[in-house]
Amino acid sequence: MATSVKEIIRRRKSVRTFSGETLRSDDRQKLDEFLKTLNNPFGVPVEFRFLDAKEYNLSSPVIVGTEKYVAAKVSHIPQSEIAYGYSFETFCLFAESLGIGTVMLAATISRSAFEKAMEVKDTEVMPVASPIGYPADRQSVREKLMRKGIKADERLPFDTLFFENSFAQGLIPEHAGLFQDALEMARLAPSAGNKQPWRAIVCGDKVHFYEKKTKAMSNNPLGDIQKVDVGIALAHFDLTLKESGISGSFAVGDYGFATDDSIEYIVTYEVKH
Ligand SMILES: Cc1cc2nc3c(=O)[nH]c(=O)nc-3n(C[C@H](O)[C@H](O)[C@H](O)COP(=O)(O)O)c2cc1C
Repeated sequence: MATSVKEIIRRRKSVRTFSGETLRSDDRQKLDEFLKTLNNPFGVPVEFRFLDAKEYNLSSPVIVGTEKYVAAKVSHIPQSEIAYGYSFETFCLFAESLGIGTVMLAATISRSAFEKAMEVKDTEVMPVASPIGYPADRQSVREKLMRKGIKADERLPFDTLFFENSFAQGLIPEHAGLFQDALEMARLAPSAGNKQPWRAIVCGDKVHFYEKKTKAMSNNPLGDIQKVDVGIALAHFDLTLKESGISGSFAVGDYGFATDDSIEYIVTYEVKH
């Protein structure tokens, strides 16, 4: 990406109101090329497709000004939602770098039409789809109201999301060391209903990531959408570290931090020396 990942993350906002201009062929080509190289640190392949709304009878009540969508599906296996969120967000950030707008939609889509268009098998899931196009100059009234309703421009404070050595001690940015920027970028991630379910404990060179479940969102037959949110935050975290030349790996470990039922351990990041 030509612009820095941090700049792109900071300026990205969901786009639901599009200009009506058709995606230019050079931009479409760049997106196609990007998808060919797109992967995630969890080794789970995510399959993307561009879809035409008219061809497949697709709709979303919150979207105006584009007929084009991008959707993705993944085999329903361990860590698939995390991998999915990571890959889909990496795609959205690349689109943003080209001035192309997106918004992940889990609820407000004609789901069965999208799943049919994606040929989703019994062993697969399609958590979200996104419209794609150039943002309109002004948001629709409906979009403005929606954003206000879910406080889309706000995020929880750093020391509410991130902790030092255990869940007992909130982490202030100045104590986060080489993880400071990466965690700040994770903090800015988009999430379903803007619930921001990611939590992390920094312990030396390791960061343990958790999902803090929202009651109303658990037990969804479509799978756990908040794990997709955690995957999105992990993409912001990992891409920021990579850009500053820090590499590391994700692995599931057994670290035994006391948690209640609403908090699920997801994965640990460890810096490579
Ligand atoms: C997994 C996921 C599912 C979402 N589902 C919807 C949806 O069904 N309808 C919608 O209008 N927005 C949806 N959103 C967009 C969020 O509301 C939005 O990301 C959040 O309010 C923060 O705003 P921002 O993306 O502009 O920073 C979803 C976002 C994510 C990450």
